[in-house]
Amino acid sequence: MTTYKELYQSWQADPEGFWLDAARAIDWVVPPEKALSQTADGGHEWFADAMVNTCWNAVDRHVEAGRGAQTAIIYDSPVTDTIAEITFAELQTRVALLAGALQQKGITKGDRVILYMPMVPEALIAMLACARIGAIHSVVFGGFASQELATRIDDATPKAILAASCGIEPGRIVHYKPLLDGAISMANHKPDFCLILQREQERATLEDNRDFDWYEAQEGATPADCVPVEGTHPAYILYTSGTTGQPKGVVRPTAGQLVALSWSMRNIYDVHPGDVFWAASDVGWVVGHSYICYGPLINGNTTVLFEGKPVGTPDAGTFWRVISQHKVRSFFTAPTAFRAVKRADPKGELLKDYDLSVLKYVFLAGERADPDTIQWAEEKTGKPVIDHWWQTETSWSIAANPAGVELLPVKPGSPTVPMPGYDIRVLDEAGLPVAPGTLGAIVVRLPLPPSCFTTIWNAHDRFISSYMSQFPGYYETGDAGMIDADGYVYIMARTDDIINVAGHRLSTGSIEEVVAGHPDVAECAVIGAADTLKGQVPVGLVCLNAGVTRDPAEISAELVRLVRDKIGPVASFRHATVVERLPKTRSGKILRGTMVNIADGQTPRIPATIEDPVVLEEIKLALHALGFAQPGA
Ligand code: COA
Ligand code: AMP
Repeated sequence: MTTYKELYQSWQADPEGFWLDAARAIDWVVPPEKALSQTADGGHEWFADAMVNTCWNAVDRHVEAGRGAQTAIIYDSPVTDTIAEITFAELQTRVALLAGALQQKGITKGDRVILYMPMVPEALIAMLACARIGAIHSVVFGGFASQELATRIDDATPKAILAASCGIEPGRIVHYKPLLDGAISMANHKPDFCLILQREQERATLEDNRDFDWYEAQEGATPADCVPVEGTHPAYILYTSGTTGQPKGVVRPTAGQLVALSWSMRNIYDVHPGDVFWAASDVGWVVGHSYICYGPLINGNTTVLFEGKPVGTPDAGTFWRVISQHKVRSFFTAPTAFRAVKRADPKGELLKDYDLSVLKYVFLAGERADPDTIQWAEEKTGKPVIDHWWQTETSWSIAANPAGVELLPVKPGSPTVPMPGYDIRVLDEAGLPVAPGTLGAIVVRLPLPPSCFTTIWNAHDRFISSYMSQFPGYYETGDAGMIDADGYVYIMARTDDIINVAGHRLSTGSIEEVVAGHPDVAECAVIGAADTLKGQVPVGLVCLNAGVTRDPAEISAELVRLVRDKIGPVASFRHATVVERLPKTRSGKILRGTMVNIADGQTPRIPATIEDPVVLEEIKLALHALGFAQPGA
């Protein structure tokens, strides 16, 4: 039995040997002889000499191995009252047919395909169909509005867009098709064609010669074979918030993803072929890519695809119902989901109706896991609740508690220890290491391990300037925190303008761009204020142009609508208020950090260079009126 320490040391002693060994879990067309190679500009790539296919590894090989009758996907959709199971054999047939239809319509290796889909099996089938033929998918989360979709269309220049007619949120239908049509008309780039999945809850009108019915397009298509691709071929592009309005297209390398995700399933999540694994997230996020679709399927697990919410579909017992009904062994969600369940059912009464005996672990990620939530979940479920830390950029844990190797003692507030592949350091502003227990910028010594992004789509310069330049030789995570004397990592805050809203990553800068676009707004600041359910929520403080005499409440409501229309409901932008002035330094820098302190009821950090401290009182009153700035909040 290996310990974590032995495991980490074995990686440190021979990083390439470690990953070549992990690569043995993958079926290769041409196996890698070399693990790591250097690119012309000094970057790194894994398994560049290999040829492989992701879909083969996630689907076909399990059928070949005689496990075609095993359930690959359990689709559990309380919002449509559906439970359906898809076996690996059926998945293979459906994926190959869709891949064949895409090929017939001209999609080949390297072409981009945007997916704008709710949590339905066709979303996973489409991802796998792209992987089968070497097309590069880019899934756009359904909570984004047309303009965000249009930005992604222009950046990824997809040949095709695959979308559903609608999504279903509790109490409302999300009209995907009008949002898609709006995005295509806004974008400069136009796709050759769209496939539209007609859902019975709302059928969409199809545009002549551009839109085709999802299933009609597959009639008579020849099932496609798996197309081998280079180890470094992009498996997908996933856009994530950067510090400007232009999102960053994180590019995932194929072979690295296969090797690292398969390693993580066994060593972090402790699941083995045939076990049921459930990540309650969305295909639009990296968690959905790594742990609803690829990770579990590559590892031969049954994955649960859940179209619902932790509460309200129909109640706060849904998680427990799904876990017990489908015999989930490892469950993964965001702390915010547990906060929602805890708020609705603080005593865990609904849990008593369900048998959770198969469940071994609960994993949390996506935002800081507050010790209260961890404790509550541990107490109610009686299972280890494991926080782990990672990002869209990495696609798998930077720090975790490796349950499949050794479950280390949990320290509340810490996502535990660095995973093999990650040499985590904490540096001060000058780039020097800080003492254990001291706060600093969290960085990872290069090279990053397999599956981490290797570039930003269309913006390699931005990849270098945003992540690799500040601390030469290290990847800058954008998170600040510390490592204690036992080697436990603590993630405390972001070093940029990113906020984390219900486990979703948003840039306050990009919300500011939208707010500033309102004709009556002279200047504005959007800050992330603490929220007991969502962790953080964005709050807008705006100054109006001279001479504007309209009702400020009306303008605030317009701003809320504007952000919803331009970014989407996912921004959760519900608070905007008009103020006379914003606090600034004498050089004109808006004091956003100080306003965050005030919003959170803390003693504000006031720089000596503040222009006029009286403004802070005005800000406090304005935030108080919105329900923030409560002392001791
Ligand atoms: N398509 C369209 N709209 C969506 C959407 C989707 N896929 N997902 C969310 N939205 C909408 C919601 O309906 C809501 O709209 P509203 O303003 O009309 O109410 C808005 O976006 C904000 O959604 P959310 O932040 O999720 O808040 P909520 O109040 O609907 O739900 C939680 C709160 C905590 C229950 C919910 O955020 C949740 O389940 N979180 C889990 C987080 C998670 O899985 N994160 C992924 C990273 S691991
Ligand atoms: P995303 O790329 O959307 O997955 O968001 C990644 C960011 O979420 C990280 O950089 C952190 O800021 C935050 N995050 C994710 N997991 C954790 C965690 N376990 N603890 C603290 N912050 C986290």
